[in-house]
Amino acid sequence: MTETNPRHFLDVDDLSAAELDEVLGLAAEYKAEQQAGVLHDDLDNQTLGMVFEKPSTRTRVSFETGMTQLGGHAVFLSDSDLQLGRGEPLKDTSRALSRYVDVLMARLFDHEALEEIAAYADVPVVNGLTDDAHPCQTLADLLTIQEHTGGLSEATVAWVGDGNNVAQSFVIGAALAGIDLTIATPEGYEIDADVIERAGELGPAPTVSDDPAAAVDGADVVYTDVWVSMGQEDEREEKLAAFDGYQVNDDLLADAADDVAVMHCLPAHRGEEITDDVLESDHAIVWDQAENRLHAQKGLLVWLCEYA
Ligand code: CP
Ligand code: NVA
Repeated sequence: MTETNPRHFLDVDDLSAAELDEVLGLAAEYKAEQQAGVLHDDLDNQTLGMVFEKPSTRTRVSFETGMTQLGGHAVFLSDSDLQLGRGEPLKDTSRALSRYVDVLMARLFDHEALEEIAAYADVPVVNGLTDDAHPCQTLADLLTIQEHTGGLSEATVAWVGDGNNVAQSFVIGAALAGIDLTIATPEGYEIDADVIERAGELGPAPTVSDDPAAAVDGADVVYTDVWVSMGQEDEREEKLAAFDGYQVNDDLLADAADDVAVMHCLPAHRGEEITDDVLESDHAIVWDQAENRLHAQKGLLVWLCEYA
């Protein structure tokens, strides 16, 4: 195990509410400064190692670009190119990489595998998505909700769809940020009970239901994600049947706020969890949400490497 004590970001509640606020504050500053053309070297000479067991567009490119913009560097490491793919233990990979890089990000299937990497790392470890959690997505989501509503604690948000990794981290982040959240998930695909319990200890407890129309009623923000996540391809037919009635479409949004903002972490499966019409409408704020991955992660990286 590691002899140092770096701060990790394996899920959103690795930060306190005050620390989450600091990270979001840094993110907003980096965004404003980038828009004003201000350059930074806050992570000058520092390197981020990025281990990927699953595909990625946004996570990979936003982390890599973010490190470049901060004066640092990122190394993309696919598991099939690492000795990890030939059976080198995670704990050995983690200790070796810790001797080179200043911060490590990993996108893995198994959340416990990420915890093992963190247990053996001498540098901060960041969750780039596991089957259980996607906390970097939540940072961007909170920044986006902050920008598009009267403020996080003023926002009424509905999660409609699968109780998956994105939903689980969002539930934790929403509680920490004081968001009024209602969740609608079908039977058998609920958010884990321990996640709901953790959220209830951190802030306002989410309302949990299996009624998408009731969840969306009056909501300022409606958020969904794919029904078939990476690694669940074998469950596709079963899941599509279970999610009948959970599609975010014009009918479902009829009772939401007139200026309802629709969020999706992307990639989207048009015609499944969301219609093309909704995604292409003025209600969708998904491109701001995707952009905010960059700013939120710059805030997080600097917070972990310089402030924590
Ligand atoms: N939202 C998200 O994490 O996208 P990628 O899978 O493209 O990284
Ligand atoms: N729930 C999705 C999110 C992708 C960013 C998945 O895990 O595939």
